[in-house]
Amino acid sequence: MATIETPSRGTWNSKLGFILAAAGSAVGLGNIWGYPTQVADNGGAAFILVYLVCCILVGLPVMIAEITIGRKTGKNPVGAFKSLDSSGFGAIIGYWGVLCGMMILAFYLVISGWTLAYVFEEIFKYSGNSELSAWFGQLDNGPKNAIFTIVFMLFTIGIINGGVSGGIERATKVLMPFLIFILVAMIIYVFTLEGSAEGIRQYVLPDFSLISGDLILSAMGQAFFSLSLGMGALITYGSYLKKNQNVMESATYVTVVDIGIAFIAGLLVIPAMYVALNQGIMIFGADGDLISSVALVFTVLPQLFENIGGPLGLFISISFFLLLGLAALTSSISLLEVPVSYVIDEHGIKRKKASLIVGGIVLFFALIISFDIGLIDIFVNIFNEIGLPLGGLMTCIFLGWVWKTGNAITELENGMPGAANSSFVKLWAFFIMYICPVLISIVFITTVLNLIR
Ligand code: PFF
Repeated sequence: MATIETPSRGTWNSKLGFILAAAGSAVGLGNIWGYPTQVADNGGAAFILVYLVCCILVGLPVMIAEITIGRKTGKNPVGAFKSLDSSGFGAIIGYWGVLCGMMILAFYLVISGWTLAYVFEEIFKYSGNSELSAWFGQLDNGPKNAIFTIVFMLFTIGIINGGVSGGIERATKVLMPFLIFILVAMIIYVFTLEGSAEGIRQYVLPDFSLISGDLILSAMGQAFFSLSLGMGALITYGSYLKKNQNVMESATYVTVVDIGIAFIAGLLVIPAMYVALNQGIMIFGADGDLISSVALVFTVLPQLFENIGGPLGLFISISFFLLLGLAALTSSISLLEVPVSYVIDEHGIKRKKASLIVGGIVLFFALIISFDIGLIDIFVNIFNEIGLPLGGLMTCIFLGWVWKTGNAITELENGMPGAANSSFVKLWAFFIMYICPVLISIVFITTVLNLIR
């Protein structure tokens, strides 16, 4: 069970650097597109409560587990599990993470590309060129999807090539505050519009009768995806963490930031839908439910922006899609960093070459998806809904029963003297051994049964 310190791999320069990079990974399409969509889909505020419970009871403990494994070993997910388990069996968890990271990135790039394409869609709409505007706004336009997917991949590779502190940390330090600024400015504006009060009411007043098995499954899946758990992203980011940083505290900050940004993104999107309703835009589907899925953000909101009209409408719409794009970028870099760090560490290939090789493979799948966006659902089912909870479950079992919580607590002592006596730490160990595996198993088995039914 060797601890291998490899300072040449790079480290975060500051305490805030890690928190922002990890929060940047967590905050993404999952928060600004996925979460409001799930809220709309699952009957509003009741979903928020269940989501919160999933994040705190399962998400936070798993995040602490991943970061601890990463920092202890100083390695990518495959190397990390290998070095903590001489039987080699643990490495399977790492390989699964690398595979899920690559496949999630493949569809993530296509959706991220939509955000950039919508910036052009809005500009051409404003300038009265409806043909070009429609071309950029068509979600199933293969050539357009392919172009923007490639552009997004190039941005992602560009940042990854800069390395840990020079690339990822520097980029997220600028992008994250900017993202929060745009989000808050847009919320303030939407709140001044007629109809937003009804949206806020729908968003914050729960109807507990809506809590169902399906809602709980969706909330748990959303928690894993949104917190970037179950595929070793936080093992990788944790591997660049200095020994003097408090893992428990950092993980708590990241979780709070992620939940907070999802919550305020909902505070933008749901009231904006009711503003749209107030302006005569259809926000209910034929079944009488709120329009959800892809349509929510990519069709209802542009109509609202159009109604606002003029340079202000254009400015707000561009800000919104840029915001989505930026959030997606800080997440896509973490998705790519997982397989890239694996190739660097385990195959001794230099960072630039590694990012090109892995980027090329992911791009191949992303281009296939660009021309057949129906595949997104299949990728989401396999690698997100099954893949991430499975990865999280295996991580808990590995830490709790193979590596053992006692060893993890010794690692936690770095940056948190007295960890072994902290009741928070003891509670965490109990959760990782018993509560999280049971809860994730229930969700995992039910998800699989639902999918094959
Ligand atoms: N957390 C990201 C989001 O909410 O969009 C998506 C994601 C990034 C999932 C990194 C998993 C991951 F490892």
